[in-house]
Amino acid sequence: MIHRAASLLKPRDDRAGIGFTAHYTSQVWVRNGLSHPALGSATGRFLHRALRPPMWMGKNILGISDLDTYLLQRHHILDFLMDRAVEQGAVQVLEPACGLSPRGFRFMARHGARLRYVEADLPAMAARKRELLDSAGLLAPGHQVVETDILAQGGEHSLEAVAEKYLDPDRPVILVTEGLVNYFDFVTMQTVWERMARILSRFPWGLYLADIVTGHGNPVSQGLLKTSAALMAWTTGAKTWLHFRSADEVARTFRDLGFDRVQAHEPEPFFRFLPLPRSRRKSFIRVLAAEVR
Ligand SMILES: C[S@@+](CC[C@H](N)C(=O)[O-])C[C@H]1O[C@@H](n2cnc3c(N)ncnc32)[C@H](O)[C@@H]1O
Repeated sequence: MIHRAASLLKPRDDRAGIGFTAHYTSQVWVRNGLSHPALGSATGRFLHRALRPPMWMGKNILGISDLDTYLLQRHHILDFLMDRAVEQGAVQVLEPACGLSPRGFRFMARHGARLRYVEADLPAMAARKRELLDSAGLLAPGHQVVETDILAQGGEHSLEAVAEKYLDPDRPVILVTEGLVNYFDFVTMQTVWERMARILSRFPWGLYLADIVTGHGNPVSQGLLKTSAALMAWTTGAKTWLHFRSADEVARTFRDLGFDRVQAHEPEPFFRFLPLPRSRRKSFIRVLAAEVR
């Protein structure tokens, strides 16, 4: 029933349901006071309500934290690491797969005119986001929403072309993706990450930030994680892949892909000083900070 209703809401040009999940995450940002109501949507509200019973069961019967806990952990930690990088001199940001995330307008409000912020997404989502931000008066000078397809290896929508067109090659840059990488298989993402490392190497300093869902090698945790992924795929049609089993494996892989200094942060140390909801078991989220000098 939920699945049938969800299928009716799905946009026809949606690629594998990934765009659909952006409505869910947006609803989480709005509900938690991190976003503007203009970025909420009926689809997001519907999805959030539809997933509430299985999330409740997961929490109260299986003892796993709900999806929103993990989403909020990743969002706050990415914000924290980005704030730190901006304070250290990174004055431009490229955020592919921005979806309906509030980060662009929140960072512009926080850091003002010294920041250039380029959000990017597939054409339909980019147009929607631009229109929503514009009509809510949330697009400041220096803040743009443009088209990209992270998989395009050439052409005007490739990440290479977007970086060249919208960023200043003489200034440090942050490249950030949130809620993207686990929607593609490892071989596909490996190519994207290698390309990202090459793009960042054209700037005096480049930092790639991303959330990555990992397992723990523990069969129970792996099983619970796979159950959650199957639930999301069933509701939205978005299939997900697990690329790594540990933070160490993340760090090793990104060094091999051409990044110089790599850290894969676990959320637990951030509990002491960020307003993060705590997960019941060790969190599945890792936040990658990979530099290119
Ligand atoms: C799960 S949503 C995350 C949105 C946002 N980053 C957030 O955390 O709320 C994934 C986003 O990836 C975008 N996306 C999917 N495939 C893409 C591609 N090939 N290139 C760029 N963006 C893509 C979708 O349109 C969607 O906005």
